[in-house]
Amino acid sequence: MSPILSAKNIDAGYNDVIVIRDISIEINTREIVAILGPNGSGKSTLIKSILGFAKLFDGKVIYHGKDITGITSDRAVHMGIGYVPQINNVFSNLTIAENLDMGAYPCKDKKSIKSRMTETYDIFPELAARKKALAGNLSGGERQMLAIARAMMAQPKVLLLDEPLASVSPKPGSAILSKLNSIKDKGTAILIVEQNVQKVLSISNRGYVLVNGACVMSGSADSLFDEESSRQRFLGLEEKVLDNN
Ligand SMILES: Nc1ncnc2c1ncn2[C@@H]1O[C@H](COP(=O)(O)OP(=O)(O)O)[C@@H](O)[C@H]1O
Ligand SMILES: [Mg+2]
Repeated sequence: MSPILSAKNIDAGYNDVIVIRDISIEINTREIVAILGPNGSGKSTLIKSILGFAKLFDGKVIYHGKDITGITSDRAVHMGIGYVPQINNVFSNLTIAENLDMGAYPCKDKKSIKSRMTETYDIFPELAARKKALAGNLSGGERQMLAIARAMMAQPKVLLLDEPLASVSPKPGSAILSKLNSIKDKGTAILIVEQNVQKVLSISNRGYVLVNGACVMSGSADSLFDEESSRQRFLGLEEKVLDNN
C-alpha cells in the first residue's frame, strides 16, 4: 500500500534560513502518525512546509501518488489535506455552527454541507449542544474540538494537527484523543504534532522524533514508547538539556 501522504528529503525554513534538514515521513490511510520533539525542533515547520506556509528548499511532497510539492494551503484543503494550526484556529467572533459552515467552504452543495454537519456533530456532541455559542467563549478543550471539527467539514483524507492538546486540561485532552481515534477509524489519516509523548503515542501507530531540525528516531509507537521510557529512566537529564535548546 502506498502512503496517502509523504514528504521526502525535505529541507525547509524561513527566508534564507533552513530549519529542518533531510526529513522524510509518510502517513498511510488508517494511521495516526506522531511528530515528537522538544520546542523549536522544527515540528511546526515540517507541517507548514507541506502546506506552503514555510519555505521548501529541497525535497518532494507526494499526495495520493501525485507530486504536490509547493502547493498552496488553499489548494491542499480542496485536495483533501486538512490542517489545524496550533493557534488562531477558530473564528472567535463566530458561533460554533458558523465556524463549521466556514470549514465546509470547499463544498458548494447545501445538502452535502448539512449531512457533513450532522456527521461532525455526531463525533462532537459537546459542540452540538452549544451550536450558537461564540467560539471566543469556549474553554480551551472545546475550542480545540471546534478547530478539529471545522477541519473535518472539508472531509479531509488526511488531517495535519499542530499540538491540539496545548492549553487543554487532561480530561478534555483525553476526550480529544479518543475522537481522533474515531476520526481515523472512519478513514481520515492523521499526522499529529504533540509535546505530551506518552499521551499521543497511546493513540499513534508510528512516530518520528525531531531534534534540532533533524529526525533522530522513528518507528512504531511501541518502540518509541520504550525508547522514551528508558531515556527517562536512565538519562533523565537528557530531556532537560533538549528542552533548553
Ligand atoms: N516564521 C518564522 N520565521 C523565522 N523562523 C521561524 C519561524 N517560525 C519558526 N521559526 C524558527 O524555526 C525553528 C523551528 O520552529 P518550529 O518549527 O516552530 O518548532 P516546533 O514546532 O518544533 O516547536 C525555531 O528555531 C524557530 O525559531
Ligand atoms: Mg510548533
